Amino acid sequence: MSLNKASSLLPFLSLVLAAPHGPPTFPTNNKYTITSGGTHGNQGAHPVVSPAVNARSSELSTILPRNGVGSKATGNAVHWYTSDFSTGNSGYADPQYYYCFNGPAANFPPFANWMNFYDMFDLNQATSLNSEESGPLQGDLYNSIVQVSADSGVDARYILAIIMQESTGNLYVGCTNNGVENCGIMQAYAGSVSFNPNNAQASITQMVVDGTQGTSQGPGLVQWFNDVDGVSGKTGGNPYSVARGYNSGTIDFSNLSDAEGATASYVSDIANRLQGWNGNDGEGYRAACGF
Ligand SMILES: *[C@@H]1O[C@H](CO)[C@@H](O)[C@H](O)[C@H]1NC(C)=O
Repeated sequence: MSLNKASSLLPFLSLVLAAPHGPPTFPTNNKYTITSGGTHGNQGAHPVVSPAVNARSSELSTILPRNGVGSKATGNAVHWYTSDFSTGNSGYADPQYYYCFNGPAANFPPFANWMNFYDMFDLNQATSLNSEESGPLQGDLYNSIVQVSADSGVDARYILAIIMQESTGNLYVGCTNNGVENCGIMQAYAGSVSFNPNNAQASITQMVVDGTQGTSQGPGLVQWFNDVDGVSGKTGGNPYSVARGYNSGTIDFSNLSDAEGATASYVSDIANRLQGWNGNDGEGYRAACGF
């Protein structure tokens, strides 16, 4: 057994298998501070790279309907989706623990290792949402994730993981530019919008649509999930390949932790968030991966 394989099996051993909790509650008295913090350098949806630039790469510029609302993940993507928010484990016993994932998609955790959406939302509320926005706005964010997940066929936990990775769930996060302008809580493709406090629920939903279902100018998660049209080296609906495509605009399928010009740890971070990591590295587990 290779080291990579071993590390992808270990997480199961340390998952907490307690009975899942119910839906989150949204405190009305949380002490939050409005800040535009939350973006991490060189993340967000990157420009899509053509295969002429990198023969290993996936390529979306000609095949994609960039249709935002109404677009839906199909094919193998359905094996990485559930509408049951109690399905899954309860996360890591130590939420700062972090497993180093790299190599091909097969080295990354199976669907059965993901934590359940209810507990995952609670974990991220406790880690950052409670200090970043009011309880009612957290409720709006929850509603938007649930709605867009059902509409798009992209698992709610996966959408939440990308949101936490891109902005720590901070609704007020600013736009960044890595060649395309990335706005909103998913730092989505050009054409994406930011939060509008005067139209809170609708603008949060639009931010989640932009990242999940794409903008008028480029792909979201759905378009990367559906990148399956017969050419070898497409994502084939695998969420870890999708995460690399979203972050880098191109994919090294032999090593999803190859940054391809963006963030090396991105896919490993997403995998750990899905299993129970809270995004903090106070104990140095993530740093030890050397990404
Ligand atoms: C994948 O890339 C990461 C980041 O550069 C590196 O640390 C890791 O050793 C690579 N893994 C493999 C299996 O090539």
